[in-house]
Amino acid sequence: MPEDLAGLPTHVAIIMDGNGRWAQQRGRPRLFGHHAGARRVREILKSCPDLGVKYLTLFAFSTENWKRTQAEVAGLMGLFRKYLEREADELFRSGVCVRFIGDRIRLDPKLVTLMDDLELRTAGNNLVHLTVALNYGGRDEVTRAAKRLAFEIEQGRLTHKDVDAETLAKFLDTRVLPDPDLVIRTSGEARISNFLLWQSAYAEYEFIDTLWPDFTAEEFARVLSEFAKRDRRFGAIRA
Ligand code: FPP
Repeated sequence: MPEDLAGLPTHVAIIMDGNGRWAQQRGRPRLFGHHAGARRVREILKSCPDLGVKYLTLFAFSTENWKRTQAEVAGLMGLFRKYLEREADELFRSGVCVRFIGDRIRLDPKLVTLMDDLELRTAGNNLVHLTVALNYGGRDEVTRAAKRLAFEIEQGRLTHKDVDAETLAKFLDTRVLPDPDLVIRTSGEARISNFLLWQSAYAEYEFIDTLWPDFTAEEFARVLSEFAKRDRRFGAIRA
């Protein structure tokens, strides 16, 4: 690793908050803010290789977001579809490996097909691993994992003695990903909102006042260099 990347996080997860307020400040509908947010996704993703970020995980739609108005939910789902259709070639060509986490059961089958196709098509890429959380909730993910684990026990393939943190983690949506080093939330809210609850046990958090559509690659780089100055001990004492 080049010296200037030392101490920078390998896996960054982001709660992209503030699209609605950003639009409101401009007297525009909330969806206008989500579209602006999608443009930032492209910019932040592009900056990852130079910053040494190998894994970028984005919270795009939570299990709680269904409570929004039907118009906003439909608008967001349409935006995800359009984004995947429009960006698929570029993501593939630029070496991004795309994955989705969350429960697909409630998503539009056409959107799920796009997600499956993109995962399959980019599976061999390794420059940056982009994970998009869609209909994702940390408690929901752990519950689904526990259910699958219980099924394996019921079928006699595992016993209760096999149940430990390592085994449970193999049933999570994130089973192939390393844990995040840093979780960023934009827009001044200091909550984790059910995002990567299990995986963030030792993550650092950064709560940034900037609304997501204003969060530039420069600011991203600044946040990462702040992270590099922190002393992570994972529960141990300083060596
Ligand atoms: C939270 O802001 C944002 C969302 C629920 C949607 C996030 C989606 C995008 C950034 C669009 C594109 C994403 C991808 C991966 C293509 P909010 O609406 O809660 O804002 P508010 O708190 O100001 O109301």
